[in-house]
Amino acid sequence: MDHFELNNGVLCAENVPLPMIAAAVGTPVYVYSRATLTRHARVFRDALGVLRDVKIAFAVKSNPNLAVLKVLAAEGYGADVVSGGEMERALAAGMAPDGIVFSGVGKTAAEMRRGIEAGIGQFNLESEEEGLELAEIAASMGKVASAALRVNPDVDAGTHGKISTGKAENKFGVPFDRAAAIYGRLATTPGLNMRGLTLHIGSQLSRLEPLEAAFNKVGGLMEEIRAAGHSVTHMDLGGGIGVPYKAGEVFPQPAEYAAMVARVTGNWGVTLMFEPGRVITGNTGVLVTEVIRVKEGVGHPWVVVDAAMNDLARPALYDAWHDFAAVEPKGETFTANIVGPICESSDTFAMARTIDKVGRGDLAVFRTAGAYGATMANTYNSRPLVPEVMVDGDKWAVVADRIDPATILAAERVPDFLK
Ligand code: LLP
Repeated sequence: MDHFELNNGVLCAENVPLPMIAAAVGTPVYVYSRATLTRHARVFRDALGVLRDVKIAFAVKSNPNLAVLKVLAAEGYGADVVSGGEMERALAAGMAPDGIVFSGVGKTAAEMRRGIEAGIGQFNLESEEEGLELAEIAASMGKVASAALRVNPDVDAGTHGKISTGKAENKFGVPFDRAAAIYGRLATTPGLNMRGLTLHIGSQLSRLEPLEAAFNKVGGLMEEIRAAGHSVTHMDLGGGIGVPYKAGEVFPQPAEYAAMVARVTGNWGVTLMFEPGRVITGNTGVLVTEVIRVKEGVGHPWVVVDAAMNDLARPALYDAWHDFAAVEPKGETFTANIVGPICESSDTFAMARTIDKVGRGDLAVFRTAGAYGATMANTYNSRPLVPEVMVDGDKWAVVADRIDPATILAAERVPDFLK
């Protein structure tokens, strides 16, 4: 469910026709709907209302835009961050420090120090080595850092290999059979307050069964750790719920997810933590693009658009599907390949796809681009960094400027030895 709909034959974001934004800001441009974002945040939060004691930390990586974070902060969300940069964004958006969880396999000493200084709520430790380093830093500052241990449950999430994180061969967490011993050692290390376990088995999950299997596994581990005399008060169940990108795809609803969690964790007696990303932001954005030209092909015509893999990397990286739709559809379709202007063949959004008929100068959108869209953009081929707009009813504003190649060039230097 989103608020990108045709009104008098023109695709609008809420009440704002997309051609109006394209004319003012140019293309490509990401457009977010505040109403859609709020709705998704509330549906997920309300679904988890069946659980007793819940904290939701939005996975900032999925959409770190400051305006997006502000909306979520107002909905009571905390943040799951994976870098000092994301932590500063969450703080800048007004998220309470103790609602911030610091995840990630390579936190640096400087990031840990800054996190402790800022008073963030929990560090999700990916190794014993990291835990000992965090303890030392905290102790040297006269502080105690709250932490959870990330466990690798060795469960196949059944998603794309590049976004699967819970198999033994993935780099994340500590091996399941060593976790209890590591927890025990970290729990008695000064400078650390070990308060729980965490896991995240992958992203864009289409089934609940792998999550349920993983939660059951860590539930058993929690009992084992408690039986050894250690306290476990927080269990962070990560993110991962997928969203449909294609018509007809069926994904678990937040209520089904919550019911499964309730069933598995009913008697755990802990604060449950969640780190949703895509399920909150996926539907809240589209990438608006203009057709540069349609080039004849051997098989199908090539629709060359002004968005490229640097603006929306998911198709190139994961063969991901994003629906493509004309902003002013003419009621005709054709079968075409959709590509960007970048000079490599991976800059392909779709092959042999039946789409709205479009031609030179027409506007179109890639849908479901609110998660892992702008956040993964870069400036490959010396293209500008794509801007972002947020719509709210009939109001709209640029929430991230387009960064021109000239600005990037200005940050480069020719060293003296080349002069
Ligand atoms: N927590 C942790 C520790 C994570 O690593 C992730 C995502 C999340 C939460 C949020 O997962 P979500 O609810 O959004 O599935 N760039 C890829 C997705 C990478 C996800 C990485 N980790 C894509 O475009 O599909």
